[in-house]
Amino acid sequence: MDKILVTGGAGFIGSHLCKRLLHEGNEVICTDNLFTGSKANIRELFQNPNFEFIRHDIIDTLHIEVDKIYNLACPASPPHYQNDPIKTIKTNILGTMNMLGIAKRLKIRVLQASTSEVYGDPDNAHHPQDESYWGNVNPIGIRSCYDEGKRVAETLCFDYHRQNGVDIKVIRIFNTYGPNMKINDGRVVSNFIVQAIKGDKITIYGNGQQTRSFCYVDDLVDGMVRLMESEPGFTGPCNIGNPSEFTMLELAEKVIKLTGSKSKIVFEPLPQDDPKQRKPDISLAKEKLNWEPKIALDEGLLKTIAYFKGVCV
Ligand SMILES: NC(=O)c1ccc[n+]([C@@H]2O[C@H](COP(=O)([O-])OP(=O)(O)OC[C@H]3O[C@@H](n4cnc5c(N)ncnc54)[C@H](O)[C@@H]3O)[C@@H](O)[C@H]2O)c1
Repeated sequence: MDKILVTGGAGFIGSHLCKRLLHEGNEVICTDNLFTGSKANIRELFQNPNFEFIRHDIIDTLHIEVDKIYNLACPASPPHYQNDPIKTIKTNILGTMNMLGIAKRLKIRVLQASTSEVYGDPDNAHHPQDESYWGNVNPIGIRSCYDEGKRVAETLCFDYHRQNGVDIKVIRIFNTYGPNMKINDGRVVSNFIVQAIKGDKITIYGNGQQTRSFCYVDDLVDGMVRLMESEPGFTGPCNIGNPSEFTMLELAEKVIKLTGSKSKIVFEPLPQDDPKQRKPDISLAKEKLNWEPKIALDEGLLKTIAYFKGVCV
């Protein structure tokens, strides 16, 4: 089995990935600066002798010997990545360069967690989005530190691959949800669930007709591991997400029903540069990874609601 570095391993997705890799018998080194992640997310993993946590910021040099790297470190929700936009760009650029540098020195494989945000606000001709779409991103807006940061991180991966032969895998993650998401981190699923559990008003930005697709975290982690283990030469980028599309209004109504809440829905103005629609074309993941999501929205929401009921009280 392998010794695997997971950066951002104390975050929402990273904590599930660490758990899965340990379960498969690997040794896992989790590095995280705990900006949005927390030790609570990885508490149970400390009992496993194959798990090690290092508090570390990926923009600083890391001396380490591992067999594989999953590079997830980066705040993912708008309030967090906009809190210190320059730090977000540094994490994406300097942090990714550091990881690619390790991969180059050790001649190991690195998987870069990219995002559907590289597609920006897609035009109608590119809906659903496949990997050949170059995107429609505002380079100077308040989301750019994340969107453009992730785009440059992809560029770096491909330049290290072409110039230095680094073995890269680039995953473009679409909206993911599940246990260990932070309360109040501004993401729609956690917002709606927490508001519904507390009986607060459920806030929809815009008219509620903008659509998103939601992938349960176990499905995403499965796609991530499949991509890491995929055939040599397949670099991606590869979309991983759930193509079932829901409007924000449909999601809010589902959450109210599944929580049994009496919350009312209210509408507020749409934030700047918020994409109106986003849906993955997952043909490439189906073909190359034999992957497609298995967990339906209702099932995933119920598991997520159970988690938030435990942390909201
Ligand atoms: N959740 C989603 O829907 C989604 C969608 C697309 C892409 N992604 C990507 O997946 C990855 C994980 O996202 P998440 O949802 O788990 O977010 P998260 O904020 O829960 O996790 C990110 C982790 O990275 C850590 N981190 C941030 N900056 C760091 C730095 N400079 N050095 C070390 N650690 C740092 C945070 O403390 C946190 O533990 C991110 O790269 C994100 O861009 C997530």
